[in-house]
Amino acid sequence: MNLKDHIREVPDFPKPGILFYDISTLLAHPDAWQVAMGRLAKAIAPRAPDVLAGIESRRFLVAAPLALKLGLGFVMVRKKGKLPGKTVRHEYDLEYGTDVVEIQEGAIEPGQRVVILDDLLATGGTLNAANELVTKVGGNVVGAACLIELTFLKGRERATIPVDSLVAYD
Ligand code: PRP
Ligand code: MG
Repeated sequence: MNLKDHIREVPDFPKPGILFYDISTLLAHPDAWQVAMGRLAKAIAPRAPDVLAGIESRRFLVAAPLALKLGLGFVMVRKKGKLPGKTVRHEYDLEYGTDVVEIQEGAIEPGQRVVILDDLLATGGTLNAANELVTKVGGNVVGAACLIELTFLKGRERATIPVDSLVAYD
């Protein structure tokens, strides 16, 4: 199955000149979604993760079903102020300004092998922020995986961890 057949291309979103790869159509197609999750599970299994992590919001869509499929726990990385209890935060740079991501204290045990999941790899900024946060709380980040990679943005080169992707656009 060619997963690209199930990823809708939307021109001029969110800004004129940007071609947006929309996974809504993949999510809406149970067979294609099943295939995508199966392929991702296969890609990350050799890294032998203890737990999977994802940043809201679209990353959750990928990380949660995969964790279930692999019989692993799933840890949420969220934008500022969303998680109850004690949290650890990490501030990172965006193209304009900064953003903050948080994780709950104790969500990851020191030394646990963590794979980070996302729907899409663009510049790699989000992935690196998640890596730094998980590393800060003692996790051993062993890799990352995503559905879509925009190769022309060179996120893979900027990424501080090895990345697997299912579909690439250049
Ligand atoms: C998108 C996408 C990735 C990120 C990739 O998320 O889901 O998480 O951008 O970009 P990068 O590699 O340049 O960091 P977005 O921040 O748009 O938010 P959403 O997932 O909540 O829709
Ligand atoms: Mg995202």
